[in-house]
Amino acid sequence: MSKAIIISKTGGPGVLEWKEHDPGRPGPGEVLLRHDAVGLNFIDVYHRTGLYPVAESPFIPGLEGAGIVEAVGSGVTEVDLGDRVAYAGVPMGAYAEKRLIPAHRLVLLPEEIPTTQAAAMMLQGMTARYLIRGCYPVSAGDTILVHAAAGGVGLILCQWARHIGAKVIGTAGSEEKAALARANGCEFPILYNHEDFPQKVKEITGGQGVDVVYDSVGQATFMKSLDCLRPMGMMVSFGQSSGSVPAFDPGILAAKGSLFLTRPSLMAYTARRKDLLDHAKDLFDHVLHGAINIRVGQTYPLADAALAHTALEARKTKGSSILTI
Ligand SMILES: NC(=O)c1ccc[n+]([C@@H]2O[C@H](COP(=O)([O-])OP(=O)(O)OC[C@H]3O[C@@H](n4cnc5c(N)ncnc54)[C@H](OP(=O)(O)O)[C@@H]3O)[C@@H](O)[C@H]2O)c1
Repeated sequence: MSKAIIISKTGGPGVLEWKEHDPGRPGPGEVLLRHDAVGLNFIDVYHRTGLYPVAESPFIPGLEGAGIVEAVGSGVTEVDLGDRVAYAGVPMGAYAEKRLIPAHRLVLLPEEIPTTQAAAMMLQGMTARYLIRGCYPVSAGDTILVHAAAGGVGLILCQWARHIGAKVIGTAGSEEKAALARANGCEFPILYNHEDFPQKVKEITGGQGVDVVYDSVGQATFMKSLDCLRPMGMMVSFGQSSGSVPAFDPGILAAKGSLFLTRPSLMAYTARRKDLLDHAKDLFDHVLHGAINIRVGQTYPLADAALAHTALEARKTKGSSILTI
């Protein structure tokens, strides 16, 4: 018998209970995966609180992990027994020592990438990849605004954009986070708790506005982010760490300069296996060539997932966080 974090009712971090759990044997197309580490992501909080409803109850949260293939079901062609693999996305169930997972969601890890590093970067790194290559293809010379620039997605996004040759403006919640963002490609960090960020963006861009805003903070930043864009600029609203964005009149997009708006998800951008493999390969290449450094800012035992959630919601984390077995 192995153990897992199980949620029987939604609520605060206290609903994350460490319990015995039998993952079962792999069926056709499935593998049994023994996790070395599991990724901590803000979406885990939305599932825990019920902001994103989960159809089953009780359920095991978590969408990201890395480890070793321990058993293989019939018809599996993507991986073999003993392979080092990682994944990000549905089906949920990562907060477990061992889990069953469809083999087509797994990616083989290059030798040089440890499983602990993989667990920190698959979800946030592939997100950065689709944001920067899919939602708005960032080019050298573009100016971009990244909110929560010292966060998990934020730090990877800043490094990737800088590597492409973009000018990166970012927001951060403290001096320490601003310094970390600056060290990772964010040339112009703004302390958005104290400074008027649209005004600062205007100053930095000489009144032009940015080509794209990557906004994961949501309610607290959404409307002001629209004021940071150049005419026909792209607003990418990809999260709501501060709360959901309220409904609004699309006419506002016209009034603010014929803006574009998208609300994307990693699941759609990596739903097809080819897309999943392309995203993972591009991420691995950038990490292996040193263009992107994955910062594991916090490590917690999986059994203490409640502590990890408390820190993430309290804005205490920097970079990526992992839960180890
Ligand atoms: N759509 C997708 O495909 C996708 C994929 C991955 C992640 N996401 C979203 O991207 C966001 C970032 O995810 P992450 O895992 O990398 O988390 P993260 O950015 O490491 O952590 C959240 C950060 O948001 C900032 N924040 C601002 N207001 C906040 C508030 N009221 N409560 C908590 N945090 C607040 C904090 O940074 P400061 O202290 O610097 O303000 C905090 O550290 C999340 O909203 C997540 O849902 C979306």
